[in-house]
Amino acid sequence: MNFVPSQSALDHAGVGAESIAGLFWVMLIGGCLIWLIVVGLAVYAIVVPGQHDQKRTRMLVIGGGAVFPTIVLTALLTYGLAMLPDLQRPAPEGSQVIEVAGVRWWWRIHYRMPDGNRVETANEIHLPVNEPVEFKLKSEDVIHAFWVPSLGGKVDMMPGRENRLKLHPTRVGVYRGVCAEYCGEAHTQMAFDVIVESREDYDEWLRQQASLAVAISDEAEAGRKIFAGSGCGACHSIRGTSADGVVGPDLTHFGSRRSIGASVLPNNADNLTRWIAETHRVKSGVEMPAFETLAEDELRALVRYLGELK
Ligand code: CUA
Repeated sequence: MNFVPSQSALDHAGVGAESIAGLFWVMLIGGCLIWLIVVGLAVYAIVVPGQHDQKRTRMLVIGGGAVFPTIVLTALLTYGLAMLPDLQRPAPEGSQVIEVAGVRWWWRIHYRMPDGNRVETANEIHLPVNEPVEFKLKSEDVIHAFWVPSLGGKVDMMPGRENRLKLHPTRVGVYRGVCAEYCGEAHTQMAFDVIVESREDYDEWLRQQASLAVAISDEAEAGRKIFAGSGCGACHSIRGTSADGVVGPDLTHFGSRRSIGASVLPNNADNLTRWIAETHRVKSGVEMPAFETLAEDELRALVRYLGELK
């Protein structure tokens, strides 16, 4: 599969996106028809020579200029408003609640567990297929906007305020979510992956995300020491270790994620090496400092350690 998954509102895979795509087609076809009528009349006026009948011309101006737009716009408004209650209705009680915070330029994600606990992850959202989920959206700095075009509408993420959004995916697959509000230097590199999967796969994924960091191999132990010794834990958390920073993304299960840098590069050893050593060449503006001073074997060990955190 392509690294960049579907990001089209017309390739809909969710209840909300389907009605939005329907509205788009109604408007597009209606707009084309009206355009054809207007152009046809213009051509008629040019081609037919001589004086046009005054009375019929006046009727045309009143009919085409006032009556027709009033009817069309009223119909369109009614059609659009009729969609709103369903799009805005919250997900039913007991649905999965997912809190997402926009941070320049990545996404902090918390899954609310049935026991009341919250599980933190970053930049990758898993959803069970054919079930509504409730998103609670906020921002930790400037205004961002949360948008998964294939699944539903777009909602702003405001500092000091919580907005909500219901998504109801209907097709298994990987979809791309983006920040849809200009938020600074790396705005175009603020994306995330949405993985829609079966209930069983989803439960398994969430169970694993809720657990502490997995045991690592002896080969990765050197990497763990470099992580600890280089101060990475001041910004990043790896639950189950002494790393408990909250500034940057939680890395407890980093190795299980599809991408790095908020869906900027596929998650593999080469890209992660580049990300750590040349962070700002990959994504200009990020707060993480580049660790250019690490020796090649230190980098390799660090990359191995992070990759093993499945
Ligand atoms: Cu965040 Cu644009």
